[in-house]
Amino acid sequence: MSAAGMFSLAGKTVVVTGGAKGIGFGISLAMARCGAQVVITGRSADALGHAQSQLEAEGAQVLAVQADLTRSDDTARVIEQALARFGRIDGWVNNAGSARAEDVGALIDIREDQWDRVVDLNLKWTFFAAQAAARAMKGGGAIVNITSRSASHANPRTGHYGAAKAGVENLTLTMAAEWGHLGIRVNAVAPGVVMTDELATTLNTEARIRHQTELVPLQRIGQPDDVGPLCACLVSDAAAWTSGAVIAVHGGSPVPMGYVSYMRQVNRHIGPMDAQRQE
Ligand SMILES: NC(=O)c1ccc[n+]([C@@H]2O[C@H](COP(=O)([O-])OP(=O)(O)OC[C@H]3O[C@@H](n4cnc5c(N)ncnc54)[C@H](OP(=O)(O)O)[C@@H]3O)[C@@H](O)[C@H]2O)c1
Repeated sequence: MSAAGMFSLAGKTVVVTGGAKGIGFGISLAMARCGAQVVITGRSADALGHAQSQLEAEGAQVLAVQADLTRSDDTARVIEQALARFGRIDGWVNNAGSARAEDVGALIDIREDQWDRVVDLNLKWTFFAAQAAARAMKGGGAIVNITSRSASHANPRTGHYGAAKAGVENLTLTMAAEWGHLGIRVNAVAPGVVMTDELATTLNTEARIRHQTELVPLQRIGQPDDVGPLCACLVSDAAAWTSGAVIAVHGGSPVPMGYVSYMRQVNRHIGPMDAQRQE
């Protein structure tokens, strides 16, 4: 099989939750470009309509289903409509998730209602979506859970979000173990900081962007297009023996202590390009 053939998703149907915006749209786009039939979900009808047009312009067959992940009957409807339109579900990317500004804060202050909204969306409903997807995948399939660098770090002000993502990474291991005999592979992709329209509302000054960039060895903040291709590979047959993996996509962070001052020194004395030429 050629390298291009290995990454083809032709004939496969892939559901991307929250697939109309941000990282989710980058994932939908990668699936479409690899030839998949794409099902996108989300709560905003406008965003779904806009994303559907963009994906169809890539030549993909697209089904957009307005659905709230925190309602199990909505998830059941996504599956029903996907099967009615395409007859099968081969891939499911659990991307929908977030911690809204009003739900974050120091652990000493966090309220039960804030905890419940963040942990329910990012852990409980993410798991039940994976369970529903696994039940619908006849003869095998691939589930990709989008977690976060936060899963393996301390997260001042978003501790409950990090704990929920860590929970998903742990569940990914058990789902992979329990569902392997069904031919279902389960992996997690853990992005670092990725610039989306939503993040741009808080990462909104040159100083903040510079500070974030300084922490990334590849010297830029991630873009939604940085995450999708890996997800497409994990859904494809190229990853036929990959399950129970948690793969970081974060430009090389976390950096060790001293990295930022080291890089400032490099830039001050010789400049990054000179350093490269000296090797
Ligand atoms: N951006 C980052 O730096 C970053 C870093 C690490 C991990 N992540 C993770 O990557 C994933 C995507 O994040 P993003 O930054 O692209 O976020 P985003 O731009 O805020 O998009 C979140 C997506 O999830 C959907 N969503 C949220 N709540 C939902 C619900 N109850 N039901 C259905 N859909 C829902 C949203 O659609 P609607 O609003 O239309 O429902 C939207 O499509 C999340 O799991 C996030 O935790 C992001």
